[in-house]
Amino acid sequence: MKLFIYHTPELTPTDTIPDCAIAVDVLRATTTMATVLAAGGEAIQVFSDLDTLKLVSADWDADKRLRAGERGGAKVEGFDLGNSPLDCTEKLVKGRRLFISTTNGTRALQRIQSAPAVLAAAFVNRAAAVNYLLAKQPEIVWIVGSGWEGTYSLEDTACAGAIAHSVLQQTNTPLDELAGNDEVVGAISLYEQWRDRLVELFHQASHGKRLLRLGCHEDIKYCAQVDILDVLPIQCEPGVLKILG
Ligand code: MLT
Repeated sequence: MKLFIYHTPELTPTDTIPDCAIAVDVLRATTTMATVLAAGGEAIQVFSDLDTLKLVSADWDADKRLRAGERGGAKVEGFDLGNSPLDCTEKLVKGRRLFISTTNGTRALQRIQSAPAVLAAAFVNRAAAVNYLLAKQPEIVWIVGSGWEGTYSLEDTACAGAIAHSVLQQTNTPLDELAGNDEVVGAISLYEQWRDRLVELFHQASHGKRLLRLGCHEDIKYCAQVDILDVLPIQCEPGVLKILG
């Protein structure tokens, strides 16, 4: 297995596809997706564009769907939800499909959707993503951070580093064999430096600061929990993710 980390969708190569691609948007889209599926959501369907989301979800029974729209960290008017994982209770999401469009996370998923295996990971389901890699042994793996409008996000790269760190430890592979690019080495170091202080790291991050300004303190604490959800959102058709199995 060779791992490649890209900090943003924009930095991801366009002339090749990997065997497996993992989108990471710790704050908060991929954390929310894992939470919804863990709470019994039927599926997640992602859109980069809000109007397309409205159009496609209109064909779905109103009691079987939820529409989530987030821009700039805030809920878009007229949508059922924004992008807070804490709103995604079992009572609300069970048996329903989440149609979601967020500023960066859903764009990252769309960017990698032609890969044969597409996963969504965050700190909350890091172990589930690692277990998938160890079981399936894809040859080339990309981990793509969502970033913020084309720029680097600390929390996504730290999570990519957490995934790489765990694969490294569990396979005893030498780092220079596992690392496909320099970003892997940098991301592992970032994770190792902050692994016991993830909330503090998120407070340093520009999007963490944005969420704090919006009053989302509890979201930050929730998203900083590691390996609490044993679910892995995996693409079953372009743009639609379900639990494996
Ligand atoms: C995004 O897609 O940029 C985010 O998940 C933003 C957020 O709602 O925190």
